[in-house]
Amino acid sequence: MRKILNVDNLHVAYGKFKVLHELSFDVEESQVLGVIGPNGAGKTTLMNALSGLVIPYDGTVVFDGVNITKKSPDERCRHGIGRTYQVPRPFEGLTVFENVLVGAAYGVGKSERAVIAKAVEVLKSTSLYEKSDTVAGRLTLLDRKRLEIARALATEPKLLLLDEVAAGLTDAEVHEVMELVEYLKGTGITIIWIEHVIKTMAESTDKLLCLSTGTGLIYGDPDYVMASKEVEEVYLGVEEE
Ligand SMILES: Nc1ncnc2c1ncn2[C@@H]1O[C@H](COP(=O)(O)OP(=O)(O)O)[C@@H](O)[C@H]1O
Ligand SMILES: [Mg+2]
Repeated sequence: MRKILNVDNLHVAYGKFKVLHELSFDVEESQVLGVIGPNGAGKTTLMNALSGLVIPYDGTVVFDGVNITKKSPDERCRHGIGRTYQVPRPFEGLTVFENVLVGAAYGVGKSERAVIAKAVEVLKSTSLYEKSDTVAGRLTLLDRKRLEIARALATEPKLLLLDEVAAGLTDAEVHEVMELVEYLKGTGITIIWIEHVIKTMAESTDKLLCLSTGTGLIYGDPDYVMASKEVEEVYLGVEEE
């Protein structure tokens, strides 16, 4: 299978505070890479480095054959990288439909009809269509998480970055999120899925990468990673929430 993302020797810092170091991994097209690791391991920082919110001070990120290491979030979105935020960030005063329209209208040369059709398609696939007219600020946490995914999908990404979409949800709600991710997998989109609570997603991923204090600790098939001494040590004393 074709590698769609290659991260090589990534180093990221906030000012002088170094977070990620010597991080390297690949993602194959249409696969789901799960990224796990305790709080503060640098998972969101990795998202930021992939989506362009922070620029690495060393290393390279090649996406779909293009070196995007220093490109802006806008350029990356146009290249086909979409992301969700750990804390949902909809336009609170806009309706669900309007929020998704903003994503769907992103880019150039789309007709109004195509934009609306895209928004409707995405709302249906994320089970939000019935709530199109609801103001985003009134949504439940589950629907806010769905809206994060819908807004990202509306930009038609080839690579979708999910940052703790299951966090804070009940078991039944987590199940709904898992079903949505399963559906997305079926569409052939490539996904990097970060969760702090590992049991949630381990079984839905093709590969797992465990981060610890900013570097890749272990990488491989989910069963192998989950059974590893490294993961046991990292999570020792960390209760699943
Ligand atoms: N904007 C920021 N400025 C400075 N330090 C940050 C910033 N964001 C995160 N950090 C620090 O970087 C480390 C990794 O954070 P983060 O990537 O959010 O971890 P995770 O998502 O794995 O919990 C933590 O020590 C955190 O306090
Ligand atoms: Mg995080």
